[in-house]
Amino acid sequence: MRTPLIVGNWKMFTTVAEAQALAKGIRGVLAESRVTVAICPPLTALAAVAKVLMGSGIHLGAQNMHWEEEGPFTGEVSPRMLADAGCRYVILGHSERRQYFAETDWSVNQKVHAALRHALTPIVCVGETLVEREDGRTFQVVGGQVRGALARVRKDSAAGLVLAYEPVWAIGTGRTATPEQAQEVHAFVRKQLAEIWDGASAARVLILYGGSVKADNAAELLAEPDIDGALVGGASLQVESFARIVKEQESA
Ligand code: PGA
Repeated sequence: MRTPLIVGNWKMFTTVAEAQALAKGIRGVLAESRVTVAICPPLTALAAVAKVLMGSGIHLGAQNMHWEEEGPFTGEVSPRMLADAGCRYVILGHSERRQYFAETDWSVNQKVHAALRHALTPIVCVGETLVEREDGRTFQVVGGQVRGALARVRKDSAAGLVLAYEPVWAIGTGRTATPEQAQEVHAFVRKQLAEIWDGASAARVLILYGGSVKADNAAELLAEPDIDGALVGGASLQVESFARIVKEQESA
């Protein structure tokens, strides 16, 4: 019922030329994929990558945005601009944004509403830090982030919404959650969604796992029933490793 989604988050990597080359490589091997594939280059490369991806079935996404359509917000980019650049997805509330750029559940919620208004699919990131996990507060933290991000979002938006569980201690560390740890939180998130809306709406939401997903550990994570795909950072910067993760999802 849920078509799996693999998203590459290129973070603050690649010049325009590097991004074009990487996108061409990805298009070359993944244009016919049976799962949904999206890549999120840095802002400066969006237009160039949009051209490379045209007609391929691979989608374009951004890594962040402001919630207003336009205005005096120096350095920001709006949902209207992202849609205009060819984006279909936007990552919101990534832990690096929360940690280094003071992103809060409130601002993530503003952005979720703005994305939905502009037909952008938000990929809302949630996840606990190592200290929070060790204190036994994982569910409290993740539950709060889910409820905060989705405040006043109606259930008819469920199908156009993606969540990503990314334990902060697993991002860029090479340390990934075990499939059991990830599935436990994914099931919890889906239960939260069922409480916020209802079971049928919760069943429509894609919940991705992120945090050191590599070709070698993807299969076991993606086999879990509530893991509907992956948000991939480091391993999405090379055609071969990203393609292998997509292939693992295709055969999951
Ligand atoms: P990683 O990043 O795959 O490099 O751990 C994932 C993410 O931050 O989305």
